[in-house]
Amino acid sequence: MTVTAFEAAIYAQRPSSAEHYDVSYFRDNWRAEGNDYSLETRRRMEGRNPELTKEVFQPKKVLDLGCGPGALMHLLAELGVDVDGIDFSESSRELASDLVRERIAIGTTYDQIKPDNSYDLVVCREVMEHLTVFQVKRTVQNMVRMTSRFLYCTTRFHPEPQSLLDYTTQFDVDPTHITLLNKDFLRLMFVLEGCRSRPDLESRLDWLGKGRVIVMEKHAPEL
Ligand SMILES: C[S@@+](CC[C@H](N)C(=O)[O-])C[C@H]1O[C@@H](n2cnc3c(N)ncnc32)[C@H](O)[C@@H]1O
Repeated sequence: MTVTAFEAAIYAQRPSSAEHYDVSYFRDNWRAEGNDYSLETRRRMEGRNPELTKEVFQPKKVLDLGCGPGALMHLLAELGVDVDGIDFSESSRELASDLVRERIAIGTTYDQIKPDNSYDLVVCREVMEHLTVFQVKRTVQNMVRMTSRFLYCTTRFHPEPQSLLDYTTQFDVDPTHITLLNKDFLRLMFVLEGCRSRPDLESRLDWLGKGRVIVMEKHAPEL
């Protein structure tokens, strides 16, 4: 994609509203393979992720940005991890377990509702693809602002990008999948915010080998 085409495309994108992510979005049986957001389903789907997250990062305080109904938060809390969440959907809090409900703040991924450096791990999984490119940029900045050390992001990427700027949609999977970026493009955004790649940790987190994981470490907060 040329810069001119990229410019036209990102100005034409429209963000999804918080109301789209209602109880039906999280609970109805519309996803392939019937994967919903109940805690039982997510416990099965998460597999080793909660244990690995604790083991790899050994975090003191975690933020799950775009946490949805807080399944990962719940599974981490069961392991004794101190974890907060942010999501702009009121339904995410309604559907959350008693263990984590009060720890979910309502806000966007780019609202500055938490202090700088207040977590040593900021997680953002399966959210970037739902954002416009402008929102992705602001979210990356906010993630880096809030962490004192690690960033752990998963998203769906463009399967066959021809250039750094290529991004695509995936409406058959989810009508709000509007931004599947080139993986290098998303990584570059973190690098330009003062982060370095941690391929060693990335490969440990990507135990299913899906290539959807980015792990970064905040390197130069002064830049
Ligand atoms: C596919 S769900 C992922 C939930 C959870 N992170 C997970 O991995 O299961 C996407 C989540 O992103 C949230 N979301 C989408 N756009 C957002 C925004 N601009 N600000 C905050 N949350 C947003 C939605 O409400 C939804 O809970």
